[in-house]
Amino acid sequence: MTGATSAPLRLLGRTDIEISPIGLGCWQFSGGRGLIGGFWEAVPQTTVNAIVRASLAGGINWFDTAEAYGRGRSEEMLAEALTAAGRHPGEVVVATKWWPVMRRASSIGATIGERIRFLSPYPIDLHQVHQPYALATVAAQMNAMADLVESGKIRAVGVSNFSAKRMRAAHAALAARGLPLASNQMLYSLLDRGIESSGVLAAAKELGITIIAYSPLAQGILTGKFHADPSLIAKSGMRRHRRDFRAASLVRSRPLVEELARIGREHGVSSAQVALGWTTQFHGPTIVAIPGATQERHVADNIGAMQLVLTGDDLRRLDEVSRPFA
Ligand SMILES: NC(=O)c1ccc[n+]([C@@H]2O[C@H](COP(=O)([O-])OP(=O)(O)OC[C@H]3O[C@@H](n4cnc5c(N)ncnc54)[C@H](OP(=O)(O)O)[C@@H]3O)[C@@H](O)[C@H]2O)c1
Repeated sequence: MTGATSAPLRLLGRTDIEISPIGLGCWQFSGGRGLIGGFWEAVPQTTVNAIVRASLAGGINWFDTAEAYGRGRSEEMLAEALTAAGRHPGEVVVATKWWPVMRRASSIGATIGERIRFLSPYPIDLHQVHQPYALATVAAQMNAMADLVESGKIRAVGVSNFSAKRMRAAHAALAARGLPLASNQMLYSLLDRGIESSGVLAAAKELGITIIAYSPLAQGILTGKFHADPSLIAKSGMRRHRRDFRAASLVRSRPLVEELARIGREHGVSSAQVALGWTTQFHGPTIVAIPGATQERHVADNIGAMQLVLTGDDLRRLDEVSRPFA
């Protein structure tokens, strides 16, 4: 069953920022640069423009990028694509991230100028600590972020890959400054349900923190394309070294992939839409998802998940068949 209108916008944590249940992940726009950006082959600016335009046309109103994605290249490509699409500053929500490895909290303030410049003219709505590995306490990092909010350089603060304990510490440090912790960006999909048992999801619900699910398609596995044509794995770049892409893992995930396809046939939609629908519906509004794309047709497909209403039976069945990954 599909509805005629897109899903309503959701509040990002306890901020006043409204976001679509699905945003666009922009790691793929790294220009193939750097250790982290080099994970994906470079996507040309013309394709990035088409992906961003299709996202906006389909009701996506926010974009997730990072300093680490090509040392700011993704931020620049995103800003160029939004400009090409004719969006004015303030008409879209932009999230970026500070890279904390081997850095002190003072680097948050020292690098924000570059973030603002690369994303110009679009303001930073959400700034996130990318990983929990800074040479600084959580409180020091949150205080540096709070300074940026107070000086008007960012609107809200988030973290990523934070355990429940660290997330609570970040929440408490920001609360002492009168600010909410908006979000925790975490690995989450039907193939990676760890946040349900680690306490992260429960704490997020308790504290009103949005979970931003990254790799919600398990980097393409949940679309079913690698099961349908395993020869694609050899052409999948660095992903082929990941556990999910090994032959034994594909055997394990096959029942889940088949169930996604079956439910998709019933609704007349793709497996990717069913997977994203489950991710953004099963736990209510707490979880939003940011699938990445290297082609316009990926987005054209994925945005359909915002019009898909899965039944209680669909949600339960997918819960059951993905239990081995919980
Ligand atoms: N905070 C963190 O530590 C962290 C970590 C990872 C990711 N992220 C964020 O999360 C975003 C998404 O995660 P991700 O890129 O790792 O994984 P993902 O969204 O699960 O998978 C994206 C990949 O799946 C394929 N794909 C997407 N839609 C498709 C469709 N409809 N049909 C067929 N194939 C499709 C594309 O691969 P091909 O182009 O190769 O076909 C695409 O590059 C990233 O862009 C990034 O913003 C954050």
